[in-house]
Amino acid sequence: MKMKSLREVDAEIYSLIQKEKKRENDKILMIASENYASRAVMEAQGSVFTNKYAEGYPGRRYYGGCQYADEVERLAQERAKELFKVEHVNVQPHSGSQANMAVYFAFLQPGDTIMGMSLTHGGHLSHGSPVNFTGKLYKTVFYGVDKDTGYINMDEVRKLAHEHRPKIIITGASAYPRIIDFKAFSEIAKEVGAYLMADIAHIAGLVATGIHPSPSEHSDFITTTTHKTLRGPRGGVVMCRADHAKAIDKAVFPGIQGGPLVHVIAAKAVAFKEALSEDFKEYQKRVVKNAKALADALKKRGFKLVSGGTDNHLMLVDLTNMNLTGKEVEEALDKAGITVNKNTIPFDTKPPTVTSGIRIGTPCVTTRGMGEEEMEEIAEIIYMVVKNISNNSVLMDMKKKVQTLCKRFPVY
Ligand SMILES: Cc1ncc(COP(=O)(O)O)c(C=O)c1O
Repeated sequence: MKMKSLREVDAEIYSLIQKEKKRENDKILMIASENYASRAVMEAQGSVFTNKYAEGYPGRRYYGGCQYADEVERLAQERAKELFKVEHVNVQPHSGSQANMAVYFAFLQPGDTIMGMSLTHGGHLSHGSPVNFTGKLYKTVFYGVDKDTGYINMDEVRKLAHEHRPKIIITGASAYPRIIDFKAFSEIAKEVGAYLMADIAHIAGLVATGIHPSPSEHSDFITTTTHKTLRGPRGGVVMCRADHAKAIDKAVFPGIQGGPLVHVIAAKAVAFKEALSEDFKEYQKRVVKNAKALADALKKRGFKLVSGGTDNHLMLVDLTNMNLTGKEVEEALDKAGITVNKNTIPFDTKPPTVTSGIRIGTPCVTTRGMGEEEMEEIAEIIYMVVKNISNNSVLMDMKKKVQTLCKRFPVY
């Protein structure tokens, strides 16, 4: 059988892939949870392992023909262990939400209490939001940031933990620009007899390279996605101490998933290998440097940042002093070729479809090789767009500047 190429089989999907490639090349992508996976990662993900069923774990499969799938999964596990300095790794979760689900299903009963960061203060849906399975299955308690400083209010975390005695405390966020004090969280968890789960989905690349403190000494479980700062394929991972390994593995399979995506696990293994390199460490340093440079350049132009700045790969711009909504700014920036997402800011009075803020991240622009000088340029473009939001000719001028920048820093 001669197999045809995608182009021959499906011109519509082929063309959409070409368009997406162009979009990713020609726009400045600043969504904090995105990145450009390497060619090597994509090659592994697009490989023949997509054909393989491998229910179970290496050496204990429910299907024949798993010898190479076993080796792939073992490599992924060993590399992740080395990268995050943990005793046990499950590389099978299909996504970050599923990694979190595995921890809850392993250690909670419906009706138990979990405590996480409020979604509107930067937490994630899977940390207890009422529209998520977590909010439907468990009693939920939320902590947030201090209104004046924008930093997580650890006094509130302690007070709420003592009051509600959650079974699991969740630390980690989707829109928090500061260092998370895992040690302080673990002390509070110990005081109330709770498990501590650190969801490092956003900061995994920073943690892996020692740029953000690691939760491995302090938490019972670490969950992450592999596709954000870590720059791998879309997917999830759960890590824990050896004594929790059995319960976690059982929760992932057969608890919540069927066959693992072996092609994605192969791509995760490649990403972990890349992340163990010196180059990746340098990359993560530049991600943070760029975020700081962009934050400073925005502040210089009158933008207000939640917590006053950033320690990691992202910042949250509070647009209330500009009298604009996140929705308006997201749309105007998109016209100029900069992709960001509207985001609620702590104590936001606007709904999540409108919001008073935007979230900006530097992982993508740093992957394409941009540096602090370009961050200054991008801040100026953002400023010009915001100040001339209804002036189409200024937006088009800015689009030209964006295109020039993108040409200088090609991706794929
Ligand atoms: C902190 C955090 N946890 C979990 C997730 C969920 O990951 P996924 O979209 O892969 O389910 C995200 C994704 O944005 C996240 O930011």
